[in-house]
Amino acid sequence: MGKMDGKVALVTGGASGLGAEDARVLAREGAKVVITDMNAALGEEVAASIPGCLFLQHDVRDEARWAEVVAETISRFGRLDTLVNNAGLVRFGTVEALPYDDFRLQMDVMVGGAFLGCKAAIPHMSKDGSGSIINMASVAALKGISSIPAYTAAKAGLIAMTRSIAVHCREQGHRIRVNTIAPGGIVTPMTAQALAELPQDAAGLDQIQNHGMGQPIDIANMVLYLACDDGRHITGTNITIDNGETMA
Ligand SMILES: NC(=O)c1ccc[n+]([C@@H]2O[C@H](COP(=O)([O-])OP(=O)(O)OC[C@H]3O[C@@H](n4cnc5c(N)ncnc54)[C@H](O)[C@@H]3O)[C@@H](O)[C@H]2O)c1
Repeated sequence: MGKMDGKVALVTGGASGLGAEDARVLAREGAKVVITDMNAALGEEVAASIPGCLFLQHDVRDEARWAEVVAETISRFGRLDTLVNNAGLVRFGTVEALPYDDFRLQMDVMVGGAFLGCKAAIPHMSKDGSGSIINMASVAALKGISSIPAYTAAKAGLIAMTRSIAVHCREQGHRIRVNTIAPGGIVTPMTAQALAELPQDAAGLDQIQNHGMGQPIDIANMVLYLACDDGRHITGTNITIDNGETMA
C-alpha cells in the first residue's frame, strides 16, 4: 500500500531540483502525478523517468493556462488531491541594485503563481471534499538577507498568503489543508548556480554553507507527509527544514 494510492498530485516547477524529487516520491507512493514547468525539454525528460507521469508546459503566471492544466489533470486522472506550488527563481541584487522588473518577476512567480494555483485548484479539490496544497517558501522569509530583498519578500508573502487561504478553506468547511515548507540550502541547480556565480563572501551564502546543504529528498519527504493522510491535522502552518540554520 502506498501512502498516495488513489490520489492525484500536480507539481509546478517539476522539471528540476525539488519539484522533480517531489514528483518522484509522490509517484513512488502511488500517486498519479502531473508536473508542469516553463522548461518543456527538461519537463518531458523528468516525466518520462516517472511511471505514468504527465508533463504540461506552463508558466505559473498564466491564469488561463492554469485552468487548462487543472482541466487536463482531471480529464486524464479523474481528480486533483495535491497541489505543490514549487516553481521559483532567485534574482540577486541589493535594494539599490536590483531592477524593479526583477522584484516584480519574483513576486509574480512565487506569490502570484501560487495564488493562481490555489484559485484554480480549490474549487476542484472541494468537489472531492479534501486536498492538500503545499507552497514552497524558504528560510529566506524568516531572516534578513541583503542580497535577495525581493526573494525574501516573496517567500514571506507566500507564508502569509498561505495562512489566509488555509483559514478560508476551513471557514468554507472544506477539508483542504494549505501549508508552506521553508527549506534552508538544498543541493539543486538553483543553489549550484548561485554558488558558482556569486562571490564567496556574498551575503547569504556563508549562512547556507555553514549549516550544511540538504538533499531534495529531505524536502520531498515532508511534501509526502503533508500530502498524504499522515498530515491530516496540519493546516496554516510553515514547516522549516534547515538543519537549524534559523535557530541561532
Ligand atoms: N534549493 C534551495 O536551496 C531552496 C531553498 C529554499 C527554497 N527553495 C525553493 O524551492 C523551489 C524549487 O527550487 P529548486 O532549488 O528546485 O530550483 P530549480 O531552479 O532547480 O527549479 C525551479 C524550477 O522552476 C521552474 N520555473 C521558474 N519559473 C517558472 C515559472 N514562471 N513557471 C513555471 N516554472 C517555472 C524552472 O524552470 C525550474 O525547473 C523554489 O520555489 C525555490 O525558491 C529552494
